[in-house]
Amino acid sequence: MDKADLEFATPEAALSYDAWTPHYEQPLWKDPQRTVEKRGYPDVGAGILADKQVYWSKDAHDLEWQALWRKTWHLVGHLNDIPKQGDFLKTDLGPESFLVTRGSNDALTALYNFCTHRGTRLVMKDFGSATRFVCPYHRWEFETDGAIRHVPQRETFRKETLCRSLDMPKARVDTWRGWIFLTMDKEAPALADYLGDDFTAMLGAYDLEKMVRVADVAQTWPVNWKTAHEAFIEGYHVQATHPQLIPNVDTYYAQVDLYPNGHNRQFFPFTEPMTPYLDEIPLELSEENKLFLREAGVAEADFPKTRDGVPQAVVKGKRNGANGAIDYSKFTDGQLIDDWSLSFFPGVTWNIHPEGVLVQSWRPHATDPLLCEYILRVYAVPGISELPSYMGVPKDVDTSGKTVLPRSYADPEDFSVLGPVVSQDRVLIPRLQAGMRSEAFEGAILGEQELRIRAFYDEYCKYINGLKR
Ligand SMILES: [Fe+2]
Repeated sequence: MDKADLEFATPEAALSYDAWTPHYEQPLWKDPQRTVEKRGYPDVGAGILADKQVYWSKDAHDLEWQALWRKTWHLVGHLNDIPKQGDFLKTDLGPESFLVTRGSNDALTALYNFCTHRGTRLVMKDFGSATRFVCPYHRWEFETDGAIRHVPQRETFRKETLCRSLDMPKARVDTWRGWIFLTMDKEAPALADYLGDDFTAMLGAYDLEKMVRVADVAQTWPVNWKTAHEAFIEGYHVQATHPQLIPNVDTYYAQVDLYPNGHNRQFFPFTEPMTPYLDEIPLELSEENKLFLREAGVAEADFPKTRDGVPQAVVKGKRNGANGAIDYSKFTDGQLIDDWSLSFFPGVTWNIHPEGVLVQSWRPHATDPLLCEYILRVYAVPGISELPSYMGVPKDVDTSGKTVLPRSYADPEDFSVLGPVVSQDRVLIPRLQAGMRSEAFEGAILGEQELRIRAFYDEYCKYINGLKR
């Protein structure tokens, strides 16, 4: 199949629309020094794909794997997932599976997870510790850095069959502030350049290196990975899909900033009603307001009288030292109250707070474009007393990091593991996938609140069209 046959829109294609500049900026009190500056508004077009088959065709799925997933960096875990020498983590990505191992001198190695003899997957556990990897099929053995260690009955192989490397092949691995990324592309830019200083600088205050995994659930979803991912990079659907959130998060005025290489961020103001509904929301404190105040350690007697005092009261509560494990003085007021939603191109989002981060991944299925692999992980700062409640982590969860949490695999139809908000998305997205398949559907119409989706496809098309590697 030729790339041209797919007719993806190119970022250069002329698009006739008048750009409405999403000029909204978080209010000055949340960051008086403007330590996180609002960025300019690059035109990423209307984000209309000339060909909807990217959501279901096998050819598009295969091209996407070759042109995009093989070329980009992927966040696969944290150094605290493999705390000791000899520890490994396994990560499955499309048709591939990788092992990231921590060797002597704490050097990391990323290995393709198969036996070089006949191709058997060597490791099926997600996290563990090993002194060597042994193939269960013919007992070939490998060091944890991938070097061949033993070929049983070696004398029965003709010399020329063993003349190529018998070591497990390596992918590129690198870390950024404790987080482990890998890429299959030897020519890809360095991880630091791929992420970009601009994008990572805003995270300076967070205790990223310390964080430990406290929740980890994987689930197969019956939709293309992009269909699923899109539902988590725009706030426009909240008024319809998550109406219970209307009084508590202003997705309407949520600052969006786009960064090079497809990464972006959005600040969702928590404890503030959605602007178009302001007149309908009573001024009295809601149960949700009270929950936020309690989580921030504000005593009942100090609760504000009306909801408009909640954001500042939450900030004050945190600054008064409700959560002793964290130095809140490093953070801006906005960071203490809002939900910072970040996209790591291509398929990872973070919702980060000083206490911890919700990490969601949508990965292509190995063979089927109409399935994707979803992983929900929460990492927390050790010793914190409370994570934001929407993350769904039990209050008594072990945040010590002393034991490495296994990944659990949820039945595809078990929505209870997703929590009340994500399960609403999970219910809806198969309907989206089904409806857009209609021959009469002309493609998505994306508004300014869906800017991050347009930015995603702007970058996506660069890879698919071979303009970027
Ligand atoms: Fe949603």
